[in-house]
Amino acid sequence: MRIFSGIQPTGRKHLGNYIGAIRQYVEGQDRGEAVYCIVDLHATCVAYEPAELPGYVLDTTAMLMAAGLDPEKCILFRQSDVREHTELCWSLCSVTPYGDLTRMHQFKDKGEGQALVRTSLFLYPVLQAADILLYDTDEVPVGDDQRQHLELARDIAERFNATYGDTLVVPRHRFPEAGGRIMDLQEPSRKMSTTAPGEEGTLLMLDEPKALEKKVKRAVTDSGSEVQRGREKPGVTNLIEILAVIRGVSPEDVESEFEGRQYGAFKGAVAEAVVDYLTPVRERYEEIRADPAGIETVLAGGAERARAIAAPTMARVRERMGIGPV
Ligand code: TYM
Repeated sequence: MRIFSGIQPTGRKHLGNYIGAIRQYVEGQDRGEAVYCIVDLHATCVAYEPAELPGYVLDTTAMLMAAGLDPEKCILFRQSDVREHTELCWSLCSVTPYGDLTRMHQFKDKGEGQALVRTSLFLYPVLQAADILLYDTDEVPVGDDQRQHLELARDIAERFNATYGDTLVVPRHRFPEAGGRIMDLQEPSRKMSTTAPGEEGTLLMLDEPKALEKKVKRAVTDSGSEVQRGREKPGVTNLIEILAVIRGVSPEDVESEFEGRQYGAFKGAVAEAVVDYLTPVRERYEEIRADPAGIETVLAGGAERARAIAAPTMARVRERMGIGPV
């Protein structure tokens, strides 16, 4: 069974990334052949700082290793090191309806208000499909926000097979049972992300304990005083979910533990759990990140192993499409 997932390069990964995705990557290493890609080409789809990008790739690689990815047990590589990603993206464009891309939420959200909407932002989901399909992937662990992209990747694979003959594996997605959508602590109607207007609602994996505590204690709580989930209590619901996932218990367990207790005590417990959860990762991160050459060696080894899978897929695609000599 092959597992594949991709993650954007940034030094600012947050608890949503960790709970929604990275945790599943770690677990995937023992369930199948796991392939994880730092998608630096995707990072160029919106305005970015070229001088910073290579460092962000190292930051993210170090973060994944700190969270438990072991280069002996999985393939960890940088997207741009494997040229087949861009080539397959172009090939997949031949079976991707323009109309489908215009309906992508992310294109609408990220494109809005930009002085220049890059064509690469429009093609972003096709490159993502190429990432996945290049590795004959069975399963893709992701958070809920990637649902539409994954459905498109499946449609593209099916359409390719229908047009050119059976060539590509149609992947399944794998959303976590709980924690697939961690919300912003200040604005619990939006998902936790680093593009929020302020940082107050985002628990960064590299935040110091004091900062984490402060953010949890200032999290918006809803009217009433009961530690109970509910539509009208999105802030408390989110905190209950975070605590349940970290402790590996059900949200109902958390609710009964805090029955009759105040928000203050509850938030104290959430803050403590988050600090205990992220601190060891941050400490390991600092050690790993201090050796950039070591990280590059990991990425180079990963790219070589990734290429060995990607090249035959791309050769198959070229042949089916009639690209190249007879
Ligand atoms: P990225 O880098 O934005 O996010 C990495 C992973 O974190 C998950 N995630 C969340 N999960 C729960 N709650 C949240 N608030 C939250 N925010 C983010 C995301 O669902 C994702 O799984 N387009 C992808 C990168 C990508 C990719 C791929 C993923 C490129 N090619 C191929 C899978 C397969 C992205 O921007 O992820």
